[in-house]
Amino acid sequence: MTDVHRFIAIDGPAGSGKSSVSKAVARRLGFGYLDTGAAYRALAWHVLESGADTADAEAVRRAASDFPLVQRLDPDDRRVLVGEVDVTDAIREPRVSSAVSGVARVPEVRAQVNDMFRRVVAEAEYPAVVVEGRDITTVVAPDAPVRILLTAAPEVRAARRAAELAGENAAAVAEALHKRDASDSSVVDFLNAAPGVDVVDSTELDFAQTIDAVLSVIARRRSVERGTDNG
Ligand code: DC
Repeated sequence: MTDVHRFIAIDGPAGSGKSSVSKAVARRLGFGYLDTGAAYRALAWHVLESGADTADAEAVRRAASDFPLVQRLDPDDRRVLVGEVDVTDAIREPRVSSAVSGVARVPEVRAQVNDMFRRVVAEAEYPAVVVEGRDITTVVAPDAPVRILLTAAPEVRAARRAAELAGENAAAVAEALHKRDASDSSVVDFLNAAPGVDVVDSTELDFAQTIDAVLSVIARRRSVERGTDNG
């Protein structure tokens, strides 16, 4: 059984600040942190490593059936392993970023990784886990009391992503990001909030303000949940 109370569900598009904000929030609250995008990326890496193309759904299913992913919940341990291989840096390479949508498009694979995420959260040695992705608020944990969509204007997201990838051409980064958003949003809608999901728009907020905004949603939703809210 999934204990939805252990989920702090955060969705949003690339460049919304979701990963760094989720990690900081987890640290602040003493919670675990799960980057579900990293799991999809590691699977894309695994498909490429087998010599296949992620556009080949059968090859993706095959790779998913033997996918020894190691991902810890410690917000200060971002290492991701596939078997013995440390893929932490490799999964951020442009070749993986452009291949990952192919993996994310296969429904059976999504169902399989979603079960894995729910199991990881259920077995976590933390009181709760900040789980970030694209479909956490809608598919993985639609009944979680805390569900947040973190957004930002497209040009702000592209600029943030380009700053992260120092050395890459800003226009090329923006184009790749918009292409991936378009492809990913045809699979799950992470650009619009589902009913009951709180939106935090970070367009005009700096990092610290975004963290505060997310922390205040969490505090409010958890107090409502405990029945102590009188507002
Ligand atoms: O957040 P990110 O850029 O690391 O995500 C990598 C890819 O995985 C992205 O193309 C969308 C996909 N993804 C998804 O479909 N569902 C999730 N819960 C998380 C990521």
